[in-house]
Amino acid sequence: MRTQVAIIGGGPAGLLLSQLLHVNGIDSVILERKTRDYVLGRIRAGVLEQGLVRLMEEAGCAGRMHAEGFSHDGALISYGSEIFRIDFAEHTGTPVLIYGQTEVTRDLYDAREKAGGKIEFEVDDVMIRDADTDRPHVQYTRNGTARRIDCEFVAGCDGFHGVSRQAIPLTVRREYEKIYPFGWLGVLSKTPPVNHELIYANSERGFALCSMRNDHLSRYYIQCSLSDSPADWTDEAFWEELKRRIPKAQADTLVTGPSIEKSIAPLRSFVTEPMRWGRLFLCGDAAHIVPPTGAKGLNTAASDVHYLYNALREYYRDGSEAGINAYSKRALARVWKAERFSWWFSSLLHRYPDQSAFDLKMQLAELEFLRANRAAQQAMAENYVGLPY
Ligand code: FAD
Ligand code: DHB
Repeated sequence: MRTQVAIIGGGPAGLLLSQLLHVNGIDSVILERKTRDYVLGRIRAGVLEQGLVRLMEEAGCAGRMHAEGFSHDGALISYGSEIFRIDFAEHTGTPVLIYGQTEVTRDLYDAREKAGGKIEFEVDDVMIRDADTDRPHVQYTRNGTARRIDCEFVAGCDGFHGVSRQAIPLTVRREYEKIYPFGWLGVLSKTPPVNHELIYANSERGFALCSMRNDHLSRYYIQCSLSDSPADWTDEAFWEELKRRIPKAQADTLVTGPSIEKSIAPLRSFVTEPMRWGRLFLCGDAAHIVPPTGAKGLNTAASDVHYLYNALREYYRDGSEAGINAYSKRALARVWKAERFSWWFSSLLHRYPDQSAFDLKMQLAELEFLRANRAAQQAMAENYVGLPY
């Protein structure tokens, strides 16, 4: 097979890139290790920044998102017996959109299918070859048969456990990592959300988050031990623990029900530099991971896609390599700010096993400063709704 851009990974980053390239007359092929149903079964992010909303519009995939998504102008933070609101509209004039990653991915798959886009599912043994030359190619197997795609560029959109990052030699690659000593236990349930806006809760028993997908579908998370497995948590135990961590008014009105999905995610901060090697470009989780606090993972994948698709568009339209050459630097400048925000917001809200009495006082002082200080709220709001790109 021959194409202009070979895209490794059919998650949101790979799909969005492929669709945006298509809209601009650039051909691509996506290689995805799993089935479409498997990818759509993964319950992940739920908060979209305006930047991603705009990209979905540019990609011609925004119809259902605008019809079914919910615009949120603020979010609540609770600690002790206090609860306060950060007003995104007042501080930034910009809302966020509640629309699940699963739905974003479904809309993109539908658009790719409608446009006759080529997606190879259930591929194995993907290997990127000659990325440091003008003629890269990708080798893989499907149903036991060896295949090859000749291309002009390779986009590594294959997530944290993908192969693309490994194709960059260790002499060139530098990795930065922080592993957090806890995880998030997430539950999806067909119940009305406890509140019309998200609640991020700092409690003595650990962090909790009340989120949602729509009026009848709630998403809740609690900080848990890394040694826990979802099977250790009955639905009853989850609801009881959640109630202990959120403000009483919400705990008293929380509607509980059977979970329809329950999973544990570890928390990690990770960045690899550079994000480009020759004709290979890393995008999204393949290059960086944030702890989920603040919902930056999917949104940061989207800003990478923005920089990369504009760079490739410039290359094919004007013959200019300026965007390609600037890609890694531009993407990383924004990535590191999302890393900082996610790290800061995580540190504000979780209980850490090694936290001293002094550390707890610092966390409390930080929360009280944020509750009372407009400038601090503005900084929080600007980061939460997404830094510009
Ligand atoms: P991915 O979604 O990981 O997609 C990569 C794709 O590449 C996958 O479909 C994978 O099957 C495929 N792939 C991997 N290896 C290969 C290979 N060798 N060959 C071919 N294909 C391959 N973010 C938030 O903002 N809020 C959240 O609540 C949240 N929860 C999360 C929970 C979990 C368990 C995880 C793992 C992540 C979560 N995230 C969350 C992060 C967010 O979902 C990611 O940032 C987002 O999915 C990144 O998109 P991506 O396309 O870069 O990577
Ligand atoms: C969701 C996840 C997050 O990490 C977050 O900060 C907000 C919402 C969610 O899955 O709904």
